[in-house]
Amino acid sequence: MAKLVTGVGGFIGGAIARRLIDEGENVIGIDSLTDYYDPEIKKRNVANLQASNFKFLEMDLNTAPLEEVLQDTDVVFHQAGQPGVRKSWGKDFNTYVASNINATQRLLEASLATDLKRFVYASSSSIYGNAQTYPTYETVVPKPVSPYGVSKLAAEHLCALYAANFGLKTTSLRYFTVYGPRQRPDMAFTRFLRAAVTGQAIEVYGSGEQIRDFTYVDDIVEANFLAAATNETPGAVFNVAGGTSISVNEVLALIETISGEKLNIRRIAKVAGDVNRTGGSTEYARSGLGWNPTVGIEEGLQLQLQWAQEEFSTYGHLGSDFLG
Ligand code: UGA
Repeated sequence: MAKLVTGVGGFIGGAIARRLIDEGENVIGIDSLTDYYDPEIKKRNVANLQASNFKFLEMDLNTAPLEEVLQDTDVVFHQAGQPGVRKSWGKDFNTYVASNINATQRLLEASLATDLKRFVYASSSSIYGNAQTYPTYETVVPKPVSPYGVSKLAAEHLCALYAANFGLKTTSLRYFTVYGPRQRPDMAFTRFLRAAVTGQAIEVYGSGEQIRDFTYVDDIVEANFLAAATNETPGAVFNVAGGTSISVNEVLALIETISGEKLNIRRIAKVAGDVNRTGGSTEYARSGLGWNPTVGIEEGLQLQLQWAQEEFSTYGHLGSDFLG
């Protein structure tokens, strides 16, 4: 039996596939290599996964023959989607609906024809919006403040519906701002580290006092593995949060310390859809999945900086932001 990883060319899908392949699992990776950011980065990620137990399908979930793809699959790690909170307004919203909602519905529907052990869905802390309480429990009423958050929440609800109505064993993991080596080029840390390495200016949105619960990528991978093996009730939802409560300004100070570079910071307007604070309770992930975050922000940032330096010396850049 194989494990299917959607969005395998991406930051998190690639990391999950890497570990599965290293553990000798048969892995099918699917990705349509969209141009939200430089597709060359995704192609490189896929090329790095090359192995006899890895098969890559360049396909769009909205058109792929999914029942065929899922035929010999027992676990789905559904990481594909249109990411990015701040880009989800205006005409781009159609892409968020197609890639996050329609594609998930199609994958869930096709999964009914198979005997899946688990369908793990990559949800997001952005479904909470500016939560009413911190640490935020999974039971808090979700109130996204970005169209992206709305699309991720809609797909999470679909996972719960397929569990409740058809017994599909779905588990949703609400990721809290994931970072680490190979992070997407449009995300804060890659941008900040790119600036630290090249001396370019960093644009900080708003006061920089916004707080995030950052989560290291290997901890996210571990949560996926635990979720794949869980016996928790189908439809369950877990926060996967690294446990930091640190502002963007504090992150910048930390980058100056670990890189030894003085950063060139420019403050610009707050962007619509950006939440003021995230902070997830991980009580349920601990009790239900046996998950614990293991990498703290200093160690994780250091690892991401090392990667950024290597990447920059090999390719001369850290990817451009938005091509799409
Ligand atoms: C991230 C991901 O991009 C989403 O795909 C994901 O769903 C979400 O986390 C989540 O946790 O659910 P975000 O928290 O905005 O969203 O992640 P970053 O891009 O790392 O931004 C962190 C903070 O840095 C934000 O407050 C943002 O305003 C700030 N930022 C980002 C800047 O000040 N300047 C930049 O150039 C980029």
